[in-house]
Amino acid sequence: MGASDSAARGALVGVDGSADGRHEAASKMRDLDTCAEIHDLVVRFYREVVFDELLGPVFGEVAEVDWSAHIPKLIDFWCRVLLGHPGYDGYILGAHEHVHELQEFNVELFDRWYLLFVASVDEGWRGPIADKAKAHAARIAAVLARRLIGLQWEPPPQPAAREGGPVIRTIDGFYQKEQDDWVAELSCLHMQHVRHEPPIRDRS
Ligand code: HEM
Repeated sequence: MGASDSAARGALVGVDGSADGRHEAASKMRDLDTCAEIHDLVVRFYREVVFDELLGPVFGEVAEVDWSAHIPKLIDFWCRVLLGHPGYDGYILGAHEHVHELQEFNVELFDRWYLLFVASVDEGWRGPIADKAKAHAARIAAVLARRLIGLQWEPPPQPAAREGGPVIRTIDGFYQKEQDDWVAELSCLHMQHVRHEPPIRDRS
């Protein structure tokens, strides 16, 4: 293990603050209904990613991800997606295009990313918001696969197979950025500011 691997893994454990990350197992499963729960999910997921033989090198050697920036960004991302909190304002496709230029994405990477994400959710959380997280992950993965490598990706059937598979939508959702500033999340993964309050806030 290189020094950067050690640092990354140390950082992940440090963010979580727990030794084994399985403290929830003995207690009742909760839903992902607070940013604290989402924080725990993100940390759990990326701890798996760092140790994964397929994904670990993509985040480590290829993208040289700064975990101290990436983890808070992904917490913001999921807090926005799942709870409608403002905060994340990035461009997902652009970030992955950059990675793709360094190392091409492939179906195995998408499958592994999705399976690890679903396993991370299922190990700690149950409920409608946990389901929404898995569905959104499938949707984004499908869009990324299509846009980056022209692949009609569908979630692997084993864990949490969802009837009908991912649905590609023109607008995935809306969130309110500040007091009265609405942003639409488009299926092309761009963010589009909208002038008026959208008619539909949550279709799930
Ligand atoms: C093959 C599957 C995937 C791989 C290998 C992957 C890898 C990465 C890497 C290496 C970065 C860091 C880019 C950088 O900082 O330079 C990143 C960023 C990110 N990823 Fe992924 N990713 C995958 C799928 C997904 C999916 C399905 C989602 C959403 C559900 C997602 C959400 C994000 C977000 C929100 C960022 C931050 C983008 C920003 O900078 O604003 N990723 N990903």
